[in-house]
Amino acid sequence: MQMGLRLTATGSCLPPKVVTNDDLAQIVDTSDEWIVKRTGIRTRHYCETETHLDLAAAAARQALERAGIDPARLGACLVTTVAADQVTPSCACMLQKVLGLPEDTVCFDLNAACAGFPYGLRVLQGLLTAEKPYGLLVSCEVLSRLMDFTDRSTCVLFGDGAGAVVVEAAPDAPDLCARLGSRGDNQVLYIDGAGQPGPSHIHMEGQPVFKFAVDIMPKCGQAVLDAAGLTWDQVDLVVMHQANERIIDHIARKLSLPPEKIYKNVSRYGNMSSACIPVALNELYEAGRLTPGTKVLCVGFGGGLTWGGCLIEMGGTHESYEETQ
Ligand code: COA
Repeated sequence: MQMGLRLTATGSCLPPKVVTNDDLAQIVDTSDEWIVKRTGIRTRHYCETETHLDLAAAAARQALERAGIDPARLGACLVTTVAADQVTPSCACMLQKVLGLPEDTVCFDLNAACAGFPYGLRVLQGLLTAEKPYGLLVSCEVLSRLMDFTDRSTCVLFGDGAGAVVVEAAPDAPDLCARLGSRGDNQVLYIDGAGQPGPSHIHMEGQPVFKFAVDIMPKCGQAVLDAAGLTWDQVDLVVMHQANERIIDHIARKLSLPPEKIYKNVSRYGNMSSACIPVALNELYEAGRLTPGTKVLCVGFGGGLTWGGCLIEMGGTHESYEETQ
């Protein structure tokens, strides 16, 4: 029997260095006014000496401490990323080492670009068992290393950060109702790998990606809700991939969603690829907005072109929730 998943705890790590739009205007031909008007982004965080693994480990430790679980009951440790320190060993295997996780913990990295977080949850739902019901999912990106600082149309958009969740699989937990897809596109958004000459940079054609985002995210969210037998009114919060405030506002308007249901933090962090959704979840948790039974619809899209959405419910009792706050 397939088990459902509940959210047990969250964590995050943002490197301390904050880069403003004015800072970027010193190195490329841009302005605070242009960036805010076209994207809503005001600041983003960049790593200096911190590694990708440092961010991932800090976010993971926070989530694991709050979950208060025995690591022996952790069935899997997954990392979603496009920007790990090394191709192999995976960041997940290095996390296994630094966190001291047992050898029978399934550890691997997953690349579904910015849609990675819902993909990771869906994979965890299939992997976890009654004996080892807990899963750790870390979404970590250091995109400042992949930026072409001569391309003003992309370098102002992205930032670094990590978000983590611990989830619990249980027969009485709700199905994620995940809906995932991809389109086999390597033209409008890509990062070159080892087979290509020259440095590895994010390349993007903004307008087709914008059109894709405003088309696919409402459709994906609707498909998740149809599978769950719910309406938009019946979910407590909607957390979309934080690529551009205009994309989020456009979709909220199209679906007539009230502003209090939509969480946005893109103004402070920019696009952190797969880390956006779990960093937002962690902020909601810390603000006391994820209480037992809170239903969150998460929807992302990214290079590939990929998309993914799922419904995740906060677990725990009110007492256990208060202890971890
Ligand atoms: N500062 C100032 N001017 C800039 C600029 C910058 N950082 N970047 C681009 N421009 C200029 C362009 O050169 C262009 O100038 P021109 O009219 O003289 O040719 C003008 O601004 C308009 O460019 P355009 O690309 O049409 O802007 P836009 O309104 O589409 O906004 C994006 C660009 C990238 C912000 C927008 O297309 C977007 O957000 N796309 C989706 C990106 C996304 O979701 N990525 C995430 C993938 S996971």
